[in-house]
Amino acid sequence: MAHEIAVIPGDGIGGEVVPAATTVLAETPADFEFVRGDAGDATRAETGAALPEQTRTVAAAADATLFGAAGETAADVILPLREVVGSYANVRPARTYPGVGALAPDADIVFVRENTEGVYAGIESEIADGVRTLTRVTTEAACERIAEFGFTYAAENGYDQVTIAHKANVMRETDGLFLDVARRVGGEHETGYETALMDALATDLVMRPETYGVVICPNLAGDVLSDLAAGLVGGLGLLPSANVGRENALFEPVHGTAPDIAGEGVANPTATVLSAAMLLDHLDHPEVAAAVRGAVETVLAEGPTTPDLGGTATTDEMTNAIVTQMDF
Ligand code: NAI
Ligand code: MG
Repeated sequence: MAHEIAVIPGDGIGGEVVPAATTVLAETPADFEFVRGDAGDATRAETGAALPEQTRTVAAAADATLFGAAGETAADVILPLREVVGSYANVRPARTYPGVGALAPDADIVFVRENTEGVYAGIESEIADGVRTLTRVTTEAACERIAEFGFTYAAENGYDQVTIAHKANVMRETDGLFLDVARRVGGEHETGYETALMDALATDLVMRPETYGVVICPNLAGDVLSDLAAGLVGGLGLLPSANVGRENALFEPVHGTAPDIAGEGVANPTATVLSAAMLLDHLDHPEVAAAVRGAVETVLAEGPTTPDLGGTATTDEMTNAIVTQMDF
């Protein structure tokens, strides 16, 4: 049976890189039915809502969602969409591909970021004039779920090292719980693990990126550390991500709408095509996903590539080259 995929391009280059990724998916042996959903700045201007009810329904009903990016309305679109698909794990692989002039030539790090609580739980207040507070939420259930996800991901994807990022020396209660639970879960798995204070980890990720595998992080730490790693492996045009829940999932490039190049047809499709490869893995097509990644790798090494990577190709030219290189 065909997999139903909600396709939500959003704004800016979302409208260029998402069609590139659906072109790639359509050229694979897997069977897809694409259902389009609108969201973002342009949708809000037209309908009054950045994420219309109909788009929520499409994403909730689909087997998976492919999202591009939204502009000013990003938070009004992506945060609710992650909830619509019930996602709790944000998976952000930062891997260096040959041929890309990256600061870290041998990095292959996967950040597994808790995606529902921590300081992003949205509990902020102004308690007096000039005094504002934020409540950090950490639950045992969410810590266990994300640690279990991270260790399982490591085992299933061939990573032999897990790092648990925390700051339990200062945030004794909240990160103390995160650390205790993650350690307990680690003890139940075969993969070796270490724990790391997140500030020292930021330094070490820059100094010795090649020594890391899966890094399990609380919400804010995962957001910041994965962006740091993006810089190490060659920039935003390359980085895919997945938001995974128990039943459903949403896949998106880490980058935004790139207003500086939107409409020119030169956006790098790699991040979204690699997000589509993660979608293929999620829908149990690991060989097809591997073929897509292999084609991307060949094109990054041999060209043609888009201007952000030093090439002169358009989005379509690079996408067509990826399709041509796919070998099933
Ligand atoms: P951005 O990721 O859109 O762009 C940063 C820089 O990277 C720009 O110079 C851009 O040209 C370049 N870039 C990004 N993706 C590229 C690609 N595929 N190919 C070639 N170059 C690429 O981040 P920025 O400028 O901070 O944000 C622009 C807009 O995007 C804002 O309105 C922001 O709210 C939104 N945004 C949305 C996100 C989402 O929907 N998930 C995530 C991040 C930003
Ligand atoms: Mg971020």
